[in-house]
Amino acid sequence: MDLIKLSAITSTNSYLKEMCTQTQLKDATVVWAQAQTEGRGQRGSTWQSEPGKSLTFSVLKRFHNLSTTEHILINMATSLGVAKALDKLKIPKVAIKWPNDIMSYDKKLCGILIENQLKGKLLSSSIIGIGLNVNNVEFDNLPQAGSLFTITGKNYELEEVLELMVRCILEELEKLEISSHDELKTGYEARLFRKDEISVFEREDGTLLNGIIRGVNREGNLCVELEDESLAEFSLKEVKLRY
Ligand code: BTN
Repeated sequence: MDLIKLSAITSTNSYLKEMCTQTQLKDATVVWAQAQTEGRGQRGSTWQSEPGKSLTFSVLKRFHNLSTTEHILINMATSLGVAKALDKLKIPKVAIKWPNDIMSYDKKLCGILIENQLKGKLLSSSIIGIGLNVNNVEFDNLPQAGSLFTITGKNYELEEVLELMVRCILEELEKLEISSHDELKTGYEARLFRKDEISVFEREDGTLLNGIIRGVNREGNLCVELEDESLAEFSLKEVKLRY
């Protein structure tokens, strides 16, 4: 991998996106910033990180035969790669909270923001942004956040964690164009947070719904068994897992 280390930047995703318009960057180029001033999260949220304690980086991955409709596979492969990296660090109870928050027990350790570039019907490349709480001790007003440190009580070398994460993520992404996606789906589903447990979901209109997560469909929508035992499929816009 080509690693670009920066001290401070608005957002590694934005920086990498901008660089892609100016130069022909190599596949697997990684931008790692010590600090982000305008870190971006999913659904238009912001991402807070602590310089020297958390990892904020983005990976450029090029694809040759993925179609635009297959973008969900990139989310699934990235989530699985992060989860496998955390396994290697012996982080307990690692799970993927649909669609791509990485948890240990009930704490969110890592967030993923993927931005895709399309060329006609093909998905030509993705910018995969990762925010991982590593040695953080405190989280202002974020009761659901945790770090590797808060889970294990150990401190980690940031660059070592970065290298491991990038290696595991790329390993999963590289499989996308050479092998069947069934293995990916099975691996992702096996790690779904609160799978087979009764959960409460919030619909778009704020009303609540009880159900049991059973898996995801081919489009990446969440399959939930409802109280009357029917199976419903929800897109990201339709529901949010409450608890
Ligand atoms: C989430 O909301 O859970 C996704 C957070 C993604 C944060 C990372 S940090 C590196 C990259 N640059 C950004 O601005 N966002 C992503």
